[in-house]
Amino acid sequence: MPMRSSMPKLAAPKVPLINPTSLARFVDPLPVPPIARSVGHRAHPAYPGRELPYYRMEMRAFKARLHRDVPPTPLWGYDGLFPGPTFETRRGEPLLIEWVNALPTQHFLPIDHNIHGAEHDKPDVRVVTHVHGARVQADADGYPEDWYTPGHSALYHYPNAQDAATLWYHDHAMGITRLNIYAGLVGTFIVRDAEEQALGLPTGEYDIPLVLCDRLLAQDGQLYYPVSEDPSAPWVMQCNGNLPLCNGKIFPYVEVEPRPYRLRLINVANTSFFDLSLSHDHVFQQIGSDQGLLSAPLERARIELYPAERADVVIDFSALAGKSVQLLHQAQGILEFRVKNSGRGTTAALPAALRNIPRIDPASAVRDRVLTLNEVDDANGNAMMMLLDGKHWSDPITENPRQNSIETWSFVNLTGDAHPIHLHLVRFQIVDRRPFDLFAWNAHRTLKYTGPAEPPPPHEAGWKDTVRADPGMVTRIAMRFEGEPGRYVWHCHFLEHEDNDMMRPYVVLPAHS
Ligand code: C2O
Ligand code: CU
Repeated sequence: MPMRSSMPKLAAPKVPLINPTSLARFVDPLPVPPIARSVGHRAHPAYPGRELPYYRMEMRAFKARLHRDVPPTPLWGYDGLFPGPTFETRRGEPLLIEWVNALPTQHFLPIDHNIHGAEHDKPDVRVVTHVHGARVQADADGYPEDWYTPGHSALYHYPNAQDAATLWYHDHAMGITRLNIYAGLVGTFIVRDAEEQALGLPTGEYDIPLVLCDRLLAQDGQLYYPVSEDPSAPWVMQCNGNLPLCNGKIFPYVEVEPRPYRLRLINVANTSFFDLSLSHDHVFQQIGSDQGLLSAPLERARIELYPAERADVVIDFSALAGKSVQLLHQAQGILEFRVKNSGRGTTAALPAALRNIPRIDPASAVRDRVLTLNEVDDANGNAMMMLLDGKHWSDPITENPRQNSIETWSFVNLTGDAHPIHLHLVRFQIVDRRPFDLFAWNAHRTLKYTGPAEPPPPHEAGWKDTVRADPGMVTRIAMRFEGEPGRYVWHCHFLEHEDNDMMRPYVVLPAHS
């Protein structure tokens, strides 16, 4: 979806950038991030008399080749990798992770000190890690203001008391999240459980996370992050790269056996959405979305993922021995699967049903919060920033659901673009999207619907944690605020929007006793 033209202009890059058409396709093997290993056990106050597996994850500067023909790129990564190691966890098996800031004290990407939380009095290099989609206590959620500088760390507790799902971890530092993630601070966090295991889905080496993003690179290999024409206010409304990366490589290939594979597609891009399909009209079987399995596999020719959304798919290469298939983004090959002539493979069919997903009845909600997504314009009508419900991060907290209560939130999108809206702590269901009269809203702040409510399509009918709120629509979600009381956040997952100032704290109040 093209962004509107009324935005502050992007400055022309001062250095020549790499043109994707100049790069040879499918010359690098697809990296599969290593599995994170615990380095011991430690006590935790929540588990008297017991020790939990303890992981130590250092964020470090390093260099990596993103493509055979591109000079090494300076990056920041967890354990010196981009993407970082994959956490393999099981439901009901808690663990501890110490997130260590071992980065240099200077940032290498353009900080905008006008942005709230990134003023001149704040250190340049600050980090705090959030596991996206994890139900954790507030003090382990990576609250954006809980950042810390190089030489410091945070020890977080993850109970993993939630259904099997493909989660991911990333930086969340106030006002510079977009830069820290662009620098490479992302990784996969998988939760498994016995129910999912019983389904006999492809596992082990046949179950691969595919972390998707895009970047701009200078000819010398350096990351290029776009800036505005005003050097004193470099922030830009969006950052769309021209080079797609799969697990940190540009146009890689992967050798596969003639059998089904499970791929966990994760969009970790700053602003870009992925529009995925397979060459030769092959299809995906989508089995999961953000928060785990769908109720049944869905055959899909095309999968669109907004930033932070996930899709678990099974691709069956059984009938393709000796052939190759490409994963396409907007009809261009970004990853090539080379199917070997033989393998140890099985061709077991997918189960017809995956799990039962009881629908939350929106009528059971104790309240519906109507929340706008707004664009703030300058005197010339140029968009300056995006807000949630007209409020800034620093405004008093207004969303204060009670623990275990059910609420619906209705996102009234007054802007010209779709925004991926994410709530920490909870999983939710999409109730519906419904077109409304923008003029009636602007005139008297009343919701006048102009068409019927549209229920989510089947691929959006599972458990979600990020929802595309379309322009001109009211997007309604329903959730139960399960988890510990405390202060969390909700925000747009376009990282440029999130940083300035499309993010709000919210508080879960203790349940009435
Ligand atoms: Cu993916 Cu607030 O995060
Ligand atoms: Cu947004």
